[in-house]
Amino acid sequence: MNLVIHELSLSLVVKVALCQQYWPSLSASPQLALRSQRDAGANVSIDQVFTVGVNVGQVLSAGGSYNETAALDSLNNLLRVGVQSYVVDLNFSVEQNFTLSGSTMSFATFLATIRQYVTASNNYLNANMLVLLLRPNFASAQSAFNDSLPMDLPNITAQLESNLGLSNIYSTLQLNSDRTQGLTVGYEGKPNTNGWPTLEYFLYKVQKRVVVAYTDANSSDTLPSDYIFDGSALSFEMSNTTVSCPINDSVELAGVAQKGWRYLETQFVPSDIREYIMCGYSPIIRNSFTPQNISGISDLLQNSLLWSWAYNEPNNYETTKSNATSLVARRCAVVHYTAVNSTSYWAVANCYDKSRSLCRNKENIFNWVLSKENDDYFSTHEDDEDICPDNYTLALPQTPLEEAALNAYFNSFALEDHEAWVDLNSISVPDCWVPGGPYASCPYQKEVSSRNFVGIITPVSVFSALTIALLLFLTWRKVPIQDNRKRWKKIVNMHSSAEKEGVPS
Ligand SMILES: *[C@@H]1O[C@H](CO)[C@@H](O)[C@H](O)[C@H]1NC(C)=O
Ligand SMILES: *[C@@H]1O[C@H](CO)[C@@H](O)[C@H](O)[C@H]1NC(C)=O
Ligand SMILES: *[C@@H]1O[C@H](CO)[C@@H](O)[C@H](O)[C@H]1NC(C)=O
Ligand SMILES: *[C@@H]1O[C@H](CO)[C@@H](O)[C@H](O)[C@H]1NC(C)=O
Ligand SMILES: *[C@@H]1O[C@H](CO)[C@@H](O)[C@H](O)[C@H]1NC(C)=O
Ligand SMILES: *[C@@H]1O[C@H](CO)[C@@H](O)[C@H](O)[C@H]1NC(C)=O
Ligand SMILES: *[C@@H]1O[C@H](CO)[C@@H](O)[C@H](O)[C@H]1NC(C)=O
Ligand SMILES: *[C@@H]1O[C@H](CO)[C@@H](O)[C@H](O)[C@H]1NC(C)=O
Ligand SMILES: *[C@@H]1O[C@H](CO)[C@@H](O)[C@H](O)[C@H]1NC(C)=O
Ligand SMILES: *[C@@H]1O[C@H](CO)[C@@H](O)[C@H](O)[C@H]1NC(C)=O
Ligand SMILES: *[C@@H]1O[C@H](CO)[C@@H](O)[C@H](O)[C@H]1NC(C)=O
Ligand SMILES: *[C@@H]1O[C@H](CO)[C@@H](O)[C@H](O)[C@H]1NC(C)=O
Repeated sequence: MNLVIHELSLSLVVKVALCQQYWPSLSASPQLALRSQRDAGANVSIDQVFTVGVNVGQVLSAGGSYNETAALDSLNNLLRVGVQSYVVDLNFSVEQNFTLSGSTMSFATFLATIRQYVTASNNYLNANMLVLLLRPNFASAQSAFNDSLPMDLPNITAQLESNLGLSNIYSTLQLNSDRTQGLTVGYEGKPNTNGWPTLEYFLYKVQKRVVVAYTDANSSDTLPSDYIFDGSALSFEMSNTTVSCPINDSVELAGVAQKGWRYLETQFVPSDIREYIMCGYSPIIRNSFTPQNISGISDLLQNSLLWSWAYNEPNNYETTKSNATSLVARRCAVVHYTAVNSTSYWAVANCYDKSRSLCRNKENIFNWVLSKENDDYFSTHEDDEDICPDNYTLALPQTPLEEAALNAYFNSFALEDHEAWVDLNSISVPDCWVPGGPYASCPYQKEVSSRNFVGIITPVSVFSALTIALLLFLTWRKVPIQDNRKRWKKIVNMHSSAEKEGVPS
């Protein structure tokens, strides 16, 4: 009884607090959806990870009178709602070393704001990768320094060190060392000495948060730094006319995937931004906003932050309860294909429903098939064997490109909507969406019970306190689905023994 009351009040606190975080008009569930989208990409190399970005100078432009408080407010909100890439046009100034073109904000202030966010979100639940893409304007340096380039240029590493902290940044030296040690993977997830580390390794093993790069290949000659990748590592486009969209062909999709760090910086409209995402690009929003109309960015963000879950998903609210004849547990995810526009999204479904399953070729991430049988979710994974044909395994699309390949597969035969199980469920802990079949446990829970979590959590703000509350909330909740079926018993038993350590009496 006490536990129930505790749970209710905690969930209320969590919900209210999450709502307030949302800006301009996003609601509470995107937080969960974004987290599970991040987790779905845990094994993807960081150059393939999808992020939404903005051009800082354009989006925070002054619109007449520059107001730093308002600009910083907007920047903090962008960080909080999940904008992860920032293109920074840098001007030089004698007094401040660097300023952001389009405003008078100093680069130092910008970096300090990023650092604040990184510190506040440096925990298992909220950590994500940020990408800073720098574009120095050397013409402004020549005028600021009376044509005395390059000897007077400020030391950009020192700027990063004092304002952002070098320990947060994944350096070129670390990449070289990871590559020689064979810790990097290619776009297909196989070891590759020209690849990049996976997101999981990046965030949790080496505990990095930021990648810094120049958008062009020449800047590093003039402003060299071990902490800034040269633009030749990127595939950075500034015009939608140079972007080609592979639609049907898995060879063409692989060709796109081979180019890492794909960005398209341009002005978007809410109706087209998703198309570019599904072509494999991370959008950099270059539309001009002022502090007064910055809320206009919310439609763009609404249509871009989540490529995976449908709007308002994951929604595990059970409108009907289990009874003797019909069992209900909305804890399993399907991919839903909409035939009219050849798109798909993820949604929550009742694990007891019968459905086909989505299988991916073990050798080719762009090759999908549906299983032959219709089955409930628990039968998709039995005794280490899944329901998929030989050489295929139950999977979920990890990136927009993989989902594009899936859409093409459906498009090749499906004239009507389809739904299929994907490898994603929240059976062990509500709201904790994990791959690995019905017996997979929640990684946040594991972190708590193995007590590693303390190592990476930095309780510096209300935000972190909230995270702890949410965590405890997650661990205290018991598996609530009960019936007499053996499988549930097995799951419940497994989890109750796994939980012992973390659960208060
Ligand atoms: C990542 O790989 C590990 C080990 O192969 C696996 O257990 C885990 O489920 C994978 N995660 C995702 C999101 O695919
Ligand atoms: C700057 O913006 C803040 C918050 O939006 C506002 O309170 C303040 O009055 C503004 N200052 C000026 C000088 O406009
Ligand atoms: C400019 O950078 C130098 C180090 O390169 C630093 O000592 C100095 O304080 C910086 N100036 C400002 C205004 O940030
Ligand atoms: C930055 O440099 C460009 C080119 O020199 C110039 O047009 C612009 O006004 C500068 N912006 C600021 C804020 O100094
Ligand atoms: C550049 O030249 C102007 C006038 O010649 C001078 O006032 C200014 O101090 C010089 N700036 C620097 C950084 O040398
Ligand atoms: C730039 O700053 C970094 C970090 O403070 C320092 O290690 C490096 O030696 C500096 N480079 C130059 C050319 O001064
Ligand atoms: C970069 O450098 C190369 C050769 O040094 C030059 O040809 C090219 O025009 C430069 N590009 C830019 C954008 O400055
Ligand atoms: C580029 O974007 C503009 C504005 O959204 C649009 O009108 C135009 O058709 C796009 N061009 C291509 C090739 O997609
Ligand atoms: C059991 O639940 C289903 C829907 O969940 C409902 O249609 C059915 O009438 C219920 N049966 C009983 C006996 O309550
Ligand atoms: C595709 O169509 C469905 C159903 O009409 C709609 O809900 C969805 O938003 C559409 N998707 C896109 C990307 O337009
Ligand atoms: C599965 O892969 C193996 C090794 O690549 C191959 O020998 C076998 O024929 C494949 N099976 C099917 C059904 O394609
Ligand atoms: C994609 O494939 C479908 C069916 O195979 C075909 O109808 C469609 O024209 C193809 N689209 C492109 C752009 O190749």
